[in-house]
Amino acid sequence: MSTTNNFPDFSPPPSGDGGSKAAAVIVSLIILAIIFVVSVVCAKKMKERIVSEIQSAVAPPLPTSHVIQPWEADTSTMEKFFIELVRERPVRFTAQQLCTFTQNYNEILGSGGFGKVYKGEFPNGLKIAVKVLNRGPNRSIEEQFMAEVGTIGRTHHINLVRLYGFCYDQFMSALVYEFMENGSLDKHLFSENQELQWEKLHEVAVGTAKGIAYLHEECQQRIIHYDIKPGNVLLDENFAPKVADFGLAKLSNRDDTHVSVTGYRGTPGYLAPEFMLKNFPITYKCDVYSFGILLFEIVGRRKNTRDCDDSESLDWFPKHVWEEFEKGELMGLIEGCGVEEKDRDKAERMAMVALWCAQDSPEARPPMSAVVKMLEGGVEIVPPPKPFHYLFSVGVGALKPMGVSGSGSGYTTSEGTNSNWYKETTPIMAKYDINVATL
Ligand SMILES: Nc1ncnc2c1ncn2[C@@H]1O[C@H](COP(=O)(O)OP(=O)(O)OP(=O)(O)O)[C@@H](O)[C@H]1O
Ligand SMILES: [Mg+2]
Repeated sequence: MSTTNNFPDFSPPPSGDGGSKAAAVIVSLIILAIIFVVSVVCAKKMKERIVSEIQSAVAPPLPTSHVIQPWEADTSTMEKFFIELVRERPVRFTAQQLCTFTQNYNEILGSGGFGKVYKGEFPNGLKIAVKVLNRGPNRSIEEQFMAEVGTIGRTHHINLVRLYGFCYDQFMSALVYEFMENGSLDKHLFSENQELQWEKLHEVAVGTAKGIAYLHEECQQRIIHYDIKPGNVLLDENFAPKVADFGLAKLSNRDDTHVSVTGYRGTPGYLAPEFMLKNFPITYKCDVYSFGILLFEIVGRRKNTRDCDDSESLDWFPKHVWEEFEKGELMGLIEGCGVEEKDRDKAERMAMVALWCAQDSPEARPPMSAVVKMLEGGVEIVPPPKPFHYLFSVGVGALKPMGVSGSGSGYTTSEGTNSNWYKETTPIMAKYDINVATL
């Protein structure tokens, strides 16, 4: 007979079965924990979305003509800008970006023959000057503009104003330059308070000469400025000089404060005499002449030209300098200009260099690298020959700035005038007789 046990079995289950149950409990707990975390994250995201939707729904609408603020500027363009800056290439900006940089052109720095200049700032705080160029009917085509800007943008020297970039589109051409804290030399030179010390003015003359020498003699492609004058020498925060507006002659149409003779441009009073000869070749030496005229203005701390009542005479400072030099009384004139004793030798040197630079014949004028050495005192200065013969043939009207002469431009070409001054004073230029003879 078999014995049957009817009581429930309370003995512990076999060990393999109990382990799988415990594992199932652990897995369920993990799944529950994951579900909990996911739902918390989703709820948080949902809340954020709802909050932002509500915020945008109650925010005021953007104005229709929204002026982009500097901090909204296209960052990729700015990154490109800094890469190009390192590569020393000018950057192309859009008209909208320039509008942003200049805060809608709200601060004007000045205006000249090319157009107006505005103060601006890149999003990183770097100050700039934006020159919006006048556009005439025969504006340069885009490729031409790029080519010129490319040359200017790759021309770097401590005494040249840096071009950062440009804008060229259907409606505007503009150039973006480094900002020069102390503006142009003319404002300091001809101001009443005369805060620039003579020593500093000498440094300005040397630095300016170095900048022009670089354009003429050290660039891959020689750049003739065509418009050297105190207004185109800018001063940085330490009053160190930098030549501005080089390479611009081909880029824009100028207004009537400038003359254009056979395609060349410049400012009356600073214009070399060869500009008054029709079909006469214009070389880089025209800049040397203009620099000489600028030097006279530094020595005299006055504008070279002062109008007299008598329209036939003119109080022209360079002529006084020559006359006093000829009499051996140059020092007396310098003293009369208020130059302190300690600076007089330098001033005398500067006046002699000016007389050399302003020679009638381009070939008689020294190259700018020689001018630098003469100004620095590294070489002895040979007494200059007599300049300004051309005044006898063209008359003083040629020296008067626009508007001063009272009759038209105050500027004459040599058509109908006697240009013998040139043949007589520069026999070496006889090869140019054909050009001169037909005048
Ligand atoms: N990079 C710059 N930084 C600061 N100021 C500038 C800069 N460029 C120009 N300016 C200011 O703007 C003024 C006008 O300059 P602009 O070059 O248009 O005229 P200009 O030099 O008198 O004549 P031009 O057209 O013959 O060059 C300057 O006198 C100067 O004060
Ligand atoms: Mg200028």
